[in-house]
Amino acid sequence: MSTLNILLLGSGGRESALAWKIAQSPRTARLFIAPGNGGTGSYGTNVDMSPLDFAAIRQFVADNSIDMIVVGNEDPLVAGIYDFFAGDSVLVLGPSKAGAALEGSKDFAKQFMVRHSIPTARYESFTAATLADGYRFLETLRPPYVLKADGLAAGKGVLIIDSLDEAKKSLAEMLGGMFGASSATVVIEEFLSGIECSVFVLTDGEGGSRILPVAKDYKRIGEGDTGLNTGGMGAVSPVPFADKAFMDKVEERIIIPTVRGLREERIIYRGFIFLGLINVGGDPMVIEYNVRMGDPETEVVMPRIASDIVDLLEGAAKGELGDIPADHDPRAAVTVMAVSGGYPGSYAKGLEITGDLNPAESILFHAGTQRTADGRLLTSGGRVIAATSYGDSIADALAKSYNAVDDICFDGKYFRRDIGRDLMK
Ligand code: AMP
Ligand code: GLY
Repeated sequence: MSTLNILLLGSGGRESALAWKIAQSPRTARLFIAPGNGGTGSYGTNVDMSPLDFAAIRQFVADNSIDMIVVGNEDPLVAGIYDFFAGDSVLVLGPSKAGAALEGSKDFAKQFMVRHSIPTARYESFTAATLADGYRFLETLRPPYVLKADGLAAGKGVLIIDSLDEAKKSLAEMLGGMFGASSATVVIEEFLSGIECSVFVLTDGEGGSRILPVAKDYKRIGEGDTGLNTGGMGAVSPVPFADKAFMDKVEERIIIPTVRGLREERIIYRGFIFLGLINVGGDPMVIEYNVRMGDPETEVVMPRIASDIVDLLEGAAKGELGDIPADHDPRAAVTVMAVSGGYPGSYAKGLEITGDLNPAESILFHAGTQRTADGRLLTSGGRVIAATSYGDSIADALAKSYNAVDDICFDGKYFRRDIGRDLMK
């Protein structure tokens, strides 16, 4: 059995879950996480290096005989890390820059879906030069109005607005630089009504793909899905409504044409495809593509992959997924995110975290944490720690995660107590 030295890029809960899973593989020789967080040091070695500093990464790869780079977050992918290393011997798990545009440009993603007849909301795109056309298009739609900055806007680039006048005003503001260059083009689309879920596919770009466990995340800060959008307050897998009939439609209408479309357009894509889907009366439609795993979905998806993740990642990165299995663990998994008081607005950092940091019945995936030189654990971000548990049911798993979050202590700790409730009715 050959083993690999692996470099994982990123620092959030997603990377903690990826590191946890990679570290369990007998095929992992050494695992490095750059920059990692206060928890990832227990799965490998944290490296103080930016995921966007490609030159430093190349030096690190050479110095440490890295065989594969696994890219956790979208920024390096959109910036072209795959292409940067294309002539080197190191494997890179992720799409090329052209493929990363599925996330990096909503306009490109919409055009791609139209070209390949993939179900998505009707839309048009506008720039400052076509503002008046944008107003006219808004007048043809029914409220609420969905306005999306074309480029990456750290998850903040989507506005959903009830009144036509407000929507026109926001369109002008977005095109006027509300989200900087990322809103120089704005996609306006029809509002779709339904429950969302996240489907993850690992593809080798050569016709081999595996569907990973389906998850649902909880984006709003407040219970009952109220208040501001966050990076994600919890996640559940599996998703009861994503049954065989629904997933057959997802595969037929969305996954197969997406992977085939990438190949037809000669876009190199060896990595994760994250389909943000909405169930509109039993029919899946694409809300968005992302070119990475989701956070906090990864904190439930990795625990539900029963197969060796390094076999899968290496197979995808080499373009040789072949018949490498991606078995799903039959148990439910849930994660509940403990966040800093005030998040997603302003919040304090550097607060000491104490309590039970090694619970028997849950896995703690660190997100915004940091270790001091003397080994204390401090908060360093809005989302602090995700507590994941397995269970025979969603309710059973949730009870364990809530116990685990209750036993984590830091000033101002907040979490939602209604994760998964909409799925248990
Ligand atoms: P995105 O950044 O594209 O994921 O959009 C953020 C959130 O806005 C999504 O998770 C949905 O909840 C919502 N959203 C985006 N597009 C639509 C749409 N066409 N109809 C309804 N909700 C949408
Ligand atoms: N949980 C949604 C995302 O990672 O974008």
